[in-house]
Amino acid sequence: MLIDTYGRVATDLRVSLTDRCNLRCTYCMPEEGLQWLAKPDLLTDDEIVRLIGIAVTELGVTEVRFTGGEPLLRPGLVGIVERCAALAPRPQMSLTTNGIGLQRTAQALREAGLDRVNVSLDTLRPEVFQALTRRKRHDDVLRGLDAARTAGLTPVKVNTVLMPGLNDDEAPDLLAWALENDYELRFIEQMPLDAQHGWKRDGMITAGDILTSLRTRFTLTAEEEEERGSAPAERWLVDGGPARVGVIASVTRPFCRACDRTRLTADGQVRTCLFAREESDLRGALRSGAPDEEIARRWKLAMWGKKAGSGLDDPSFLQPDRPMSAIGG
Ligand code: GTP
Ligand code: 5AD
Ligand code: SF4
Repeated sequence: MLIDTYGRVATDLRVSLTDRCNLRCTYCMPEEGLQWLAKPDLLTDDEIVRLIGIAVTELGVTEVRFTGGEPLLRPGLVGIVERCAALAPRPQMSLTTNGIGLQRTAQALREAGLDRVNVSLDTLRPEVFQALTRRKRHDDVLRGLDAARTAGLTPVKVNTVLMPGLNDDEAPDLLAWALENDYELRFIEQMPLDAQHGWKRDGMITAGDILTSLRTRFTLTAEEEEERGSAPAERWLVDGGPARVGVIASVTRPFCRACDRTRLTADGQVRTCLFAREESDLRGALRSGAPDEEIARRWKLAMWGKKAGSGLDDPSFLQPDRPMSAIGG
């Protein structure tokens, strides 16, 4: 079991498959991209499957989420999913993607055993998409979303970050669109995880702002507390339900007390939190021939160092050295 000193048990593993991305979202990375991890530093497909196997069979992990960068850029993705689906007990598997290329791979991913996807989309306007992501790929994302729903990778969730002056007027339109298309929309507060270190608390759109904007067009009723469990999203029934909308308020309403996550970076480091400043190396252990028990022991030890919270409210808060794209969102 992956238990920390506050008694929280990590059953949800987020695995970053690559730090690369084919978009350049302004809240994430600069136009020129970043210094990507070198190929030999990345875990191989076999190493990833082995670590997930240890997490599932020895450490009590029940849910696996594949992230990036952009995980669809990982050539071996379908094979990794297929091999993880054969583990006993079989973990729940999901993918968080920007949707580009999903049109081509959704069916194969479903057949390999993927359960569901979350797709990032911040705007319904192609020109705003281009300003936000610095790429003309709006249509690809919409087609990817459609393919995911058709393939049964459901519920399909859509993640939206609102940025002042760019798309912050779109919340009700996005919700109307999501309801029409049977996507579950969640708004995410912008977090200080951008490579450029440009985040400012007073420049971000808060959960409060988002709810006010949505209520100009919809009636929102808070979902029962017990339905939330350890999910980062707080949810509201829209116009009496059953449709819902979520808000992930990592900054203004942190949910660290219920956190059930452990993370693995694409280069094989355990991170106990998005905002952690320490990492524990499993790749070195793997490559020096350590047996499963030794790797499991190191993973447990790493989780013992998990902090109570993100530390965002501490005056001494320091952004982690790795940006979001290299941690795995
Ligand atoms: P599901 O609702 O189960 O699909 O998962 P999710 O909402 O955790 O997944 P997703 O990958 O779509 O993440 C949505 C947002 O939540 C992203 O911006 C993540 O960075 C953020 N997030 C995920 N895990 C954590 C966490 O442990 N702490 C914080 N603060 N944010 C997180
Ligand atoms: N703050 C909040 N969300 C972010 N994402 C990427 N960078 C940030 C940030 N700095 C979102 C992406 C994606 C999810 C994994 O995280 O848009 O939906
Ligand atoms: Fe790529 Fe995601 Fe970063 Fe956008 S937020 S640049 S989609 S890794």
